[in-house]
Amino acid sequence: MEKMDYSYFKTEVSKRRRPATTRELTKIAYSAPKSTVSLAEGMPNEETFPFTEISVKLYDGSSFILDESELGAALQYIPTQGYPPLVQALREFQRRAHAPPLWESRDIVVVSGSQDGLSKVLEAVIGTGDPFLVPDSFYPGVEAVVAPHKVELVMIPQDDDGPIPEILRETLRNREISGAKMPKIMYINPTGTNPTGIIIPLERRKEIYRIACEYNFLILDDDPYHFVHFDKEEPKSFLSLDTEGRVIRLDSFSKVISSGLRIGFMTATAPLIASVELHLQSSHLHAPTLSQVILYKLLKIWGYDGLMEHYMRLRYFYKNRRDVISMLAHKYLNGLADFNVPKGGFFLWIKIRGIKNTWKMIMQRGVTNGVIMAPGAAFMKDPSKSCNAIRASFSKASYEEMDLAMRRLAQLIRAELAENDKNNYIENVDT
Ligand SMILES: Cc1ncc(COP(=O)(O)O)c(C=O)c1O
Repeated sequence: MEKMDYSYFKTEVSKRRRPATTRELTKIAYSAPKSTVSLAEGMPNEETFPFTEISVKLYDGSSFILDESELGAALQYIPTQGYPPLVQALREFQRRAHAPPLWESRDIVVVSGSQDGLSKVLEAVIGTGDPFLVPDSFYPGVEAVVAPHKVELVMIPQDDDGPIPEILRETLRNREISGAKMPKIMYINPTGTNPTGIIIPLERRKEIYRIACEYNFLILDDDPYHFVHFDKEEPKSFLSLDTEGRVIRLDSFSKVISSGLRIGFMTATAPLIASVELHLQSSHLHAPTLSQVILYKLLKIWGYDGLMEHYMRLRYFYKNRRDVISMLAHKYLNGLADFNVPKGGFFLWIKIRGIKNTWKMIMQRGVTNGVIMAPGAAFMKDPSKSCNAIRASFSKASYEEMDLAMRRLAQLIRAELAENDKNNYIENVDT
């Protein structure tokens, strides 16, 4: 196998980043022997902090406290890569959960949620006007990152199994033949996809990966719903298929432990992790230490098996909600809309019949009639273009609220269709 040239993927801005000396000193001080005296860093003295103890109780009855020394670490600056014991625990977790090939060549960096990770990866790889492969509906947090860079979004159409490999290959072949700039990265949210709720099947994952190898692009595998799927079979991550070192995997604790902790982590080949780490040194220095220490203590108490048990509980919890919203959608939207039962994640993607654009229906009629959902156009390349879909989230609303929401959505659709009919009638009479 040919060695990958990662400098090909990095923008000039990313290549110009240099380590901040103070950050490097923190890294050195953290791993230095206890006998080392450091006057190098500008750390505040923990004795001045008002907190003396933090205790945490878990739903399973267990609990832990951060005593004085742990609290000292938890409230202090740490190396940019992350709280070292947590980084080590995440390495072990990742190895066990995905058995990634080329493990020795990979590294991990803790980020403030996958949004932080994906924005830093994209800014390391995509320069102004560069092409970027994305499925034809995708998580809007990605667009928010690349839009100011006037990136060329190369949309890959999807079916019920995700981006269609034949079209991906054909798109790349045509670009190559015509001499167009070739994309260096593809964004994929493969499990419980936001907004469509699909899971990309293994064979398709393999095919997309093969195409990435053929056309030399990276895969940004944004997988926050990996453990929130409703299939019997465990999805095999792109990371576990990555024999060439071209997958950048983003994990997030937002959906499975808590979003307010703002903790995620990125696993990729060391040179790409290094670029993100340098960017972090120039932004928020490191992800919040207190969150990292709490997470570390939790992982230590639960261990791998305890965490997996928690994830199983989540799956059961969200699957029940998925079943309820699907049943309600069948009940109220029969004949008005089409949808697939979500295979994972938090979202039901509903395509409305006879309405070209759901934006006004939701943002005006919906808001005044007490039901809000996300209009489908928000997940498209150009949100100002018409889209007949709606994304309904089933993660948080109570069953009663879901019932009310679906009932009100049916009323909205009927009212919108009636208005369209009236307008068409008036147009026909006028002409
Ligand atoms: C696909 C996807 N990626 C990233 C994020 C951002 O998550 P985080 O809280 O980890 O930044 C979300 C949140 O909704 C998401 O759905």
